[in-house]
Amino acid sequence: MNNYMQRLGFTAWRKKTTILVASGLITLIIFGLHFSKLEETKDNSQLEEEQNAEGVAAALMQSIKNVRFIENFNKMKMKKTDSNILGTEIDDMEQNGKVNQEAGKRLAHLSMKQFENLEIEQQLGIPYVNLDSRNPYIPKQRIVHLDLKGAPPSLAYLSKFFPLVKNMGATGILLEYEDMFPFSGLLKNISAKNCFTENRIKEILSLAESSGLEVIPLIQTFGHLEFALKHLDFVHLREVQGSPQALCPSRKSSLDFLSELIDQVMALHSSTRYLHIGCDEVFQMGECDICRLEIHENLFLKHVKNVADMVRSKYPSVKVLVWDDMLRHISLQSMQEINLGDSVDPMVWVYAEDIYRFVQPAVWEKYAAVFQTAWTASAFKGAFGETLYIPNARRHLENNLRWLDVMATQTTAFTQGLSGIVVTGWQRYDHFAVLCELLPASIPSLALSLTALSHGYFNSSLKEKFLLSLTCPEPSLDRSPFIMLDSDPFLWEKLNRCIFPGNAVFKLMSRFNSLEIEAKEYLDVTKRQKGWMTSYNVRHNYSLPLRVEELTIELPRMYHGMISLARSGVESMTDIFDNYTISEWIEQKIYPYVLEFEKIQNASVVLKSVNHWPSRPLDPMKDMQRLGIGIDVH
Ligand SMILES: *[C@@H]1O[C@H](CO)[C@@H](O)[C@H](O)[C@H]1NC(C)=O
Ligand SMILES: *[C@@H]1O[C@H](CO)[C@@H](O)[C@H](O)[C@H]1NC(C)=O
Ligand SMILES: *[C@@H]1O[C@H](CO)[C@@H](O)[C@H](O)[C@H]1NC(C)=O
Ligand SMILES: *[C@@H]1O[C@H](CO)[C@@H](O)[C@H](O)[C@H]1NC(C)=O
Ligand SMILES: *[C@@H]1O[C@H](CO)[C@@H](O)[C@H](O)[C@H]1NC(C)=O
Repeated sequence: MNNYMQRLGFTAWRKKTTILVASGLITLIIFGLHFSKLEETKDNSQLEEEQNAEGVAAALMQSIKNVRFIENFNKMKMKKTDSNILGTEIDDMEQNGKVNQEAGKRLAHLSMKQFENLEIEQQLGIPYVNLDSRNPYIPKQRIVHLDLKGAPPSLAYLSKFFPLVKNMGATGILLEYEDMFPFSGLLKNISAKNCFTENRIKEILSLAESSGLEVIPLIQTFGHLEFALKHLDFVHLREVQGSPQALCPSRKSSLDFLSELIDQVMALHSSTRYLHIGCDEVFQMGECDICRLEIHENLFLKHVKNVADMVRSKYPSVKVLVWDDMLRHISLQSMQEINLGDSVDPMVWVYAEDIYRFVQPAVWEKYAAVFQTAWTASAFKGAFGETLYIPNARRHLENNLRWLDVMATQTTAFTQGLSGIVVTGWQRYDHFAVLCELLPASIPSLALSLTALSHGYFNSSLKEKFLLSLTCPEPSLDRSPFIMLDSDPFLWEKLNRCIFPGNAVFKLMSRFNSLEIEAKEYLDVTKRQKGWMTSYNVRHNYSLPLRVEELTIELPRMYHGMISLARSGVESMTDIFDNYTISEWIEQKIYPYVLEFEKIQNASVVLKSVNHWPSRPLDPMKDMQRLGIGIDVH
């Protein structure tokens, strides 16, 4: 709580960028004053300090135009002192324009080394989070989420992935099956046609085990049951007849269905300590004839309790986990009345940078009063856009670093502390959505965040560890910044030569990115900015062939670029995904451009084949009438 208030103060404070620049300059002046004082009483011991001071001055001068430097510089000072005191100092300076001697002295006592570090760290672009540097908080468990609802990796890839993430500091895997589980009997139709076989799953589990990773199975039991409820066989279990999103919790058939679902999954996870039953984003509740009579809060709590108790009665040693989002607005009293804390542990998920914006301190207090422990969930991919193909490693790192800060504070409120963190890697936003960032393209982001989580911080002292985990060449020889998250947030430039499993897919995304930028620009220019191949020209078959020729000169190159990229895509993904996934990705990302290029090519052929044109004015478009835009020409 206290920490939160400081953070709030800090955020507000950060916005005063202009003041920061001013304070930076003022501090420089103060420093100058301090420095000249030193000159008067110079002795040997002060010589070193003077040299340091010269370095300080040089570093400052060099970067004085750079606001970010000043910002970081002040943050560094703040780390050393007390943020509140510094805030007051700045306010004082703002109000009185007074020179603050104390701040100047403190600056002078930063060593040369600290200033060098400051500058190196600043180039890395690591998001600043005010972590306790003397006592880093390291979550007990660091679990990587494997979302199989899209682009399920091959066994061959998983056999490399498990040791990889273990080496980066993971302790386990949260395995979200969705339709990739080989359901049988009454549930047979739920499984995807390319689902894992029972034997495959056993192999996956044994691979994870031999890497020393604990596997936690996840199966949805309330909302996000699209993969089951979309089928005709299960329409009768829906809360809303027309929608497969959520299950009706009030029917016996629903609980029978879940009982079967859970038994089948648990049969392959007989020794698991945990079962995650989902229960996030239940968008449809209290709408069917039975549920309408009950209030939402109770519907949700009762169902979660029913499912959890069902699990616990059959598998007494298993702890049940649920996503927390539906609990955020449920009252403390309701949760206590039903003894929710005896049945489940919540997993608090926030993937955006500002965690307290989504789960306020009051919500944390409520959780601590109900539950003995809780889990948290950050993300390394699949959180900043449904159609992205490469995660922004910087934003995800910030999310994870901020979680460390929040966890360090909140763990003390729970009687058993916080249990651990899951780094989620969503592969679709829901069953019906297209693919987001592929796993192999997201390994660098995962490495960055996992390394941070398993050390409790991230800075240049982890350089070698980070680069070695991704099999990057000669990490100790290269003296340039090893990451530059501000200019290279996808890490393409800096990790270009690393040969981690799936690196070809990671690099392919960089090629696709350049090509896509070019393609978007070309399409915009050709179809919108220039005046000879707009949809009007094409509809009316009316253009100047010379201009059309000009506008399509680059077309064959762009077209072949995309086709060749698709072929490289197939090549780089062949050992990682099955042909369905490869085909899906290419159809979603590359094919739309190929199609657009073809349309332009075809239109250009038609437009160029005209050699005499009708007099103006051209006929008004027929479609105007359909739209009820009354335009008549007599
Ligand atoms: C990195 O952070 C750790 C923990 O806060 C600290 O001990 C170490 O000195 C830092 N290293 C650098 C180079 O800043
Ligand atoms: C699975 O779907 C098929 C075709 O829709 C149907 O005939 C069959 O009865 C379903 N199987 C089960 C076990 O419900
Ligand atoms: C996938 O497609 C490639 C290329 O057509 C083919 O050689 C391969 O046999 C296919 N794999 C499977 C499992 O069908
Ligand atoms: C372009 O024309 C070719 C040849 O007539 C045809 O096969 C193709 O489908 C057309 N493409 C589009 C996008 O209309
Ligand atoms: C455009 O004009 C050419 C040449 O007269 C003709 O062959 C073609 O059918 C026309 N296309 C359309 C869409 O009107």
